Amino acid sequence: MRKQIAAANWKMNCTYHQAESLLNDVLQSKISLKPHQAAVFAIPFPYLIMANSLIGSQTNCFVSAQNCHHKPSGAYTGEVSAEMIRSVSVRHCIVGHSERREYFNETNQQLAEKLDLCLKYEITPIFCCGEPLPVREEGTQNAYVEKQLRESLFHLSAEAMGRVVIAYEPIWAIGTGKTATTEQAQEIHAFIRSVIAEKFGEEAAQNLSILYGGSVKAGNAADLFGSPDVDGGLVGGASLVAADFVQIINALKS
Ligand code: PGA
Repeated sequence: MRKQIAAANWKMNCTYHQAESLLNDVLQSKISLKPHQAAVFAIPFPYLIMANSLIGSQTNCFVSAQNCHHKPSGAYTGEVSAEMIRSVSVRHCIVGHSERREYFNETNQQLAEKLDLCLKYEITPIFCCGEPLPVREEGTQNAYVEKQLRESLFHLSAEAMGRVVIAYEPIWAIGTGKTATTEQAQEIHAFIRSVIAEKFGEEAAQNLSILYGGSVKAGNAADLFGSPDVDGGLVGGASLVAADFVQIINALKS
């Protein structure tokens, strides 16, 4: 089975001590991840080293950055590069979250550059895509998402594509309490997989983990993750409550 992933996206939340105790609470719960399952914690930059040492050798648990800059290094005050992230032994990074696209004007072209840098430093990018509400209401979400994939991913080789995780996150479902229905999630995940199959081949598409994000909760995770093309979730709000995130991890396909 392809990798099933529960990824926590803490966004800009938690002080150092809150972060430490939240992560400890999750790690000390009885999460037993099977070889095809993983829990990923995308946490603020200042806590990456602490989190890596807390996780230690706990199997299939990984720390992730939430972003990296699209240039390799240089005069970009306040920014963090993929190489820096790798240098503190962090091997995952969210790329192109809709909040970054919206508030920091990240373009598909810049995201393509971020993906290249992540892959160069052997960091697994969790590439986010997804449409805003007017696009969903118009029914043109497939074309919208396909354009995001084409402009950020299609320059990759099939080998490089094999190291990418995709997170489909409809913007209208993020932090709104409005979740896509399992049918809506399955339908667009299957579409994303078909786009990848057409460009990179059936094997690459079948091995690709496609996560769903947007108001995933302890109560709806099992239903969402039960769909054949939904390989786990990228979870914001509910990942800030240890017991809820543990339930979400336990909802991964076994
Ligand atoms: P949410 O956020 O779970 O709070 O909707 C998801 C995300 O933005 O990754």
